[in-house]
Amino acid sequence: MATLSRSAVLGRSAAAAALLAWRPGVATAENRSSARIEALIGRMTLDEKIGQLTLYPDDVRPTPRPINPDINAQAEAAERTRFQYEEIRAGRVGALLGGTGVNLGRKLQEAALASRLGIPLLFGADVLHGLRTIFPIPLGLAASFEPRLAEQTARAAAVEMTAVGVHWTYAPMVDIARDQRWGRVAEGSGEDPYLGSRFSEAYVRGFQGTDLTSPRSAAACPKHFAGYGAVIGGMEYNTTDLTERELRQVHLPPFQAAFDAGAMTTMAAFSDLDGVPASGNRRLMTDILCGEMGFEGFVVSDAASAEELVPHGLAADERQAAELAFNAGVDVNMGGGLFRRHLRPLVEAGAVSQTRLNEAVRRVLRVKEAVGLFDDPYRSLDPRRESTELRSAQALALAREAAVKSIVLLQNKADVLPLAKGVRVALIGPLGDDPNNLDGCWAPWAKSGEGKTLATGLRAAIGAERLIVERGSNIEAPIEGGVERAVAAAQAADVVVLAVGESQKMSGEASARAEIVVPEPQQILAEAIKATGKPVVVVLSTGRALALKGAIRDADAILVTWFLGSESGVAITDILLGVQSPSGRLPVSFPQSVGQQPFYYNHRATGRPQAPGEGDFFKARYREVSHAALFPFGFGLGYATVRYGSAQLDHDRLPWTGEIVLSATLTNTGSRPAEEVAQLYIRDLAASITQPVRALKGFAKVRLAPGASQEVRFRISRRDLEFVGQDLKWRAEPGAFQAWIAPSSSAGEPVAFVLDPS
Ligand code: BGC
Repeated sequence: MATLSRSAVLGRSAAAAALLAWRPGVATAENRSSARIEALIGRMTLDEKIGQLTLYPDDVRPTPRPINPDINAQAEAAERTRFQYEEIRAGRVGALLGGTGVNLGRKLQEAALASRLGIPLLFGADVLHGLRTIFPIPLGLAASFEPRLAEQTARAAAVEMTAVGVHWTYAPMVDIARDQRWGRVAEGSGEDPYLGSRFSEAYVRGFQGTDLTSPRSAAACPKHFAGYGAVIGGMEYNTTDLTERELRQVHLPPFQAAFDAGAMTTMAAFSDLDGVPASGNRRLMTDILCGEMGFEGFVVSDAASAEELVPHGLAADERQAAELAFNAGVDVNMGGGLFRRHLRPLVEAGAVSQTRLNEAVRRVLRVKEAVGLFDDPYRSLDPRRESTELRSAQALALAREAAVKSIVLLQNKADVLPLAKGVRVALIGPLGDDPNNLDGCWAPWAKSGEGKTLATGLRAAIGAERLIVERGSNIEAPIEGGVERAVAAAQAADVVVLAVGESQKMSGEASARAEIVVPEPQQILAEAIKATGKPVVVVLSTGRALALKGAIRDADAILVTWFLGSESGVAITDILLGVQSPSGRLPVSFPQSVGQQPFYYNHRATGRPQAPGEGDFFKARYREVSHAALFPFGFGLGYATVRYGSAQLDHDRLPWTGEIVLSATLTNTGSRPAEEVAQLYIRDLAASITQPVRALKGFAKVRLAPGASQEVRFRISRRDLEFVGQDLKWRAEPGAFQAWIAPSSSAGEPVAFVLDPS
């Protein structure tokens, strides 16, 4: 066969317009492909096609801290490296995962370009909240209620990841998580589908930028499709028991938001839906995702999730797993070469059609084309950028701003915060000066020692002479004599800052917890500190909502600081000293008790709700606790008090095709500036499907100087009232509604309106 030059095969001269032909919308096959992709598919051998559907962990540039033990098992490093180069040169690899580094990246790309058709590799990595500049974990950033921060931090992360050769990030993680035992709560934007959707689209816009072909843009991969957040009991990798209505109403909207914002890939979840694991679920991955949601990109399996159809019990063996996964709609296998081993015999036996094969290849090539790899295969592999575009002053300033905005003040008795000038501070607890527990779950490229601890931040701000640092306890184990030394430190100070909570490994993947509490040794430490009678400010590191108890729950002040990344310590110091006012609001409900999980504010009413002030006899509640949070979704304090004037509707009848406006005036009645998050909630009082007691439909962040007032206005239309009906389609129904403009999901007084059928 005649050898074709690479540029002839790839049609380098093809118009830039074809490159940008990506449009979410109705999926067909060839008619949304480009001429060069079709020409390429026409020339590809079966093995080359399968190669494009194969994603391996990068053995040449392994991730510094292995993330996934299964797929990162480094047997014989040298041997694997040699094998990987060979496979790439043979056109049997489409993409690599987890590798960074420009020089070796260029070598790998050279190997791909030396293959018969010279199709470039796509380099993917899990950059969820920063590469070297680490931003708050997504759960923390969601507390900012400022999607523009997700967009900006994602943009900054895109600059850094593309500086080290990454084209494709496995982010954002958009699973809605209503059970705080699940460790991956930390990776997403919390329990609410509306808030989650606003963050989801913002992350995609940030990662992808306005021009995906730019060497500073990265393709997004919203994950994990779908329903993974509903694993039973919050146990990692568990099955789910999820109605299709909940799937559509709660779990799919953040994905749709990401696709509408231009996301071109998605990842299949590990979990199942009604007994069919996502990676083998044709109805989910093809009918719903591509058919109903108009997704035109490619689906990548999660790490070995196609192989796992065997232990799930859907497939009898690996070959059947490959067949089921591929025919279900998983285009690319992330793992150990399942498709490489089994697709050829499956195609030859007719179990996998040529049409399906070509469709998967087309989806992959379209993404490669859209990120500009065919025109510039060395995009994002510029050695100069690698040394100049990491941890820029601008990125670090953004990290500090994002960290400040993510902090939530839950309690502030007698205005212990901000700390009075000149006080002597005892910083006690295992998380006050621990550089290895600042970043959170997805920061394998962070360099130890680059992040600022709270001790560092406080020392710089108030001086070493006014700060005593005492660990007191380890995170999960006591320290001999630690409590005694901590008590002595507290006694020598005016105020205690108690830095307690989870380690960063206690949330994230494979970190489900049965007991979502501050570990016992730290609780013992907290009780001893409380007994000193000194004012106590708890600074809580956590990747989930926790059930707080005892001295921690009753502390004078509680700041939830999640894992805030590179600028943690200075951001917390800014808040402690009042340089900045806290403005974060909870994206997850803090329960009264562990046993309330799963708990989420937008639950349905039940037939026996306990109205405020009503007795608890035969009501929907536990013996020990009511059906309410300790600190509800949307809650957070500032250093000022903000008064909400009563909400006003311009009309109390919403016409079927029109809109009405709900407004309220907010006044800062305090003596410090305030940043308030005014939240719009709606309740449908009677519908053919029972509805949540409240559902978030909008929010607005308002800055108020002391004494200032401002009106906030929300437009309400029928779309805000839609739910998934008995026919599993979105619909609104005429009738009576309530609406709130409130500072949290459990505050405020509703106003009534009616949706008119005409
Ligand atoms: C996780 C994914 C991740 C992948 C690659 C899996 O174990 O579930 O979220 O993108 O590993 O690191």
